[in-house]
Amino acid sequence: MERTINSKMVLVTGGTGYIGSHTAVELINAGYEVVIVDNLSNSDITSLDGVERITGHRPTFVEADCCDRDAMRRLFESYNFDSVIHFAAFKAVGESVAEPMKYYRNNMLSILTILEFMCEYGRHNILFSSSATVYGDADKLPVTELTPRKPATSPYGNTKQMAEDILRDTVAANSSLRGIALRYFNPIGAHPSAHIGELPRGVPNNLVPYITQTAAGIRECLSIFGDDYPTPDGSCLRDYIDVVDLARAHVVAIERMTSGRCKCPYEVFNVGTGNPVSVMELVRGFEQANGIKLNYKIAPRRAGDVAAVWADTTLANEELGWHAERELSDTLRSAWLWERTIRGLK
Ligand code: UD1
Repeated sequence: MERTINSKMVLVTGGTGYIGSHTAVELINAGYEVVIVDNLSNSDITSLDGVERITGHRPTFVEADCCDRDAMRRLFESYNFDSVIHFAAFKAVGESVAEPMKYYRNNMLSILTILEFMCEYGRHNILFSSSATVYGDADKLPVTELTPRKPATSPYGNTKQMAEDILRDTVAANSSLRGIALRYFNPIGAHPSAHIGELPRGVPNNLVPYITQTAAGIRECLSIFGDDYPTPDGSCLRDYIDVVDLARAHVVAIERMTSGRCKCPYEVFNVGTGNPVSVMELVRGFEQANGIKLNYKIAPRRAGDVAAVWADTTLANEELGWHAERELSDTLRSAWLWERTIRGLK
């Protein structure tokens, strides 16, 4: 039977997760039909309720592992999506150092399997969720897409670099395939409705969930890792990008591929605000935006942290027509509203 490929249908792997669920919302709002595949290893099925409450549509959900070939074949047999957004991956830097094989097996096998079936089933567009971690400790700031990648400092970072390379080479070898890698800087915040947000398991590794849990009284004190970096206030500089802004970047990248506007079959874009913000500034910004005093202390540097990294976003601005829009204070309010909502706090 001849299969009709549906250019308005998108497979979102890892779509019940933090960035995946926000992207599902923006895709649905832009008129796409969303099929989510997720093994729920680090996410909660309730995020689908949130997506439905925001959009009025419940995405199709398939519980499966992207490394499971039989399950992936069934998925490609059952749904005629033309585009895939591949989020499904492990993402904890420290854990990846302790259990490298777990990261290499999962993160590499999943993208290989997805790409293999995309080629076999004639699907055209793949968007890969990469990270600013590929730049490592860059020599020149802000980083552009042409800034040389440094050797990865963790197995997690290495899986992002290798996946980018696999995507680039596979696209080069298959004329029907187009790929975009989005290099995210530091995604933070939650949907303003507080129906979806980040649900870290255990002790959060990332700054903003640690801040909101400290504000909620779940953690006693936030440690600011280092005040002796060569930065204006001694704490690290990062580029904090609102998760809804980030989600919108996925929609425009998919539109670029489906409408044939790509300049090259494989493209890379930084997705950040272009503004460096220090850890101290972020902490104060959170206090001000929410009228809260946060319990924090200065602690030693965290192994593996770079002093500063932020994005040059010119390419995304000009080529995708995408800009970060949300004010940092609004983003920090959304993070706190989400934490209060899931904890049942006023
Ligand atoms: C981290 C990962 C990065 C990954 C990204 C995804 C590392 C080294 N890097 O980025 O590869 O792509 O998450 O979300 O883990 N901080 C504190 N106290 C805390 C937590 C963090 O001071 O309790 C500081 C950190 O030192 C850093 C900044 O806050 O300067 C941001 O940290 P984090 O949110 O963990 O992100 P990154 O380390 O930039």
